[in-house]
Amino acid sequence: MASERTFSILKPDATRRNLTGAVNAVIEEAGLRIVGQRRIRMTRAQAETFYEVHKERPFYGELVEFMTSGPVVVQVLEGENAVAKYREVMGATNPAQAAEGTIRKKFAESVGENTVHGSDSPENAKAEIAQFFQDSDIAA
Ligand code: CMP
Repeated sequence: MASERTFSILKPDATRRNLTGAVNAVIEEAGLRIVGQRRIRMTRAQAETFYEVHKERPFYGELVEFMTSGPVVVQVLEGENAVAKYREVMGATNPAQAAEGTIRKKFAESVGENTVHGSDSPENAKAEIAQFFQDSDIAA
């Protein structure tokens, strides 16, 4: 399969515990290349837009609160089958169900504070990347 890009967020629980390097090591060891990366503080409007699909879920308010509670690292990852590959590397949304060796098994604290986000489809990856990066930010 041709090289693909996906969007990743290292969430506030990761930056708070100084885990950026440790998580990035797992990403790179899995063969994914970090081609774009920025540490930002998400605004409430950005978080609300980003998680709009979850608007009706009971945890939406908590999710927006958490994602704006501290700095996050937004990333563009590139590699073969990057969307599916990164979801495998992250592990299940609920860390209690995540497989050994995955980022969430190693580092996540709960289903809400689960260390990383990764796009769930190539279409969503494109839209999510476009929300946080300009083409000129992302090295080829
Ligand atoms: P993410 O991949 O960022 O996309 C949606 C997020 O909602 C998900 O990761 C979880 O962090 C969060 N989430 C899912 N289920 C729950 C839940 N039951 N309680 C709190 N947050 C949740």
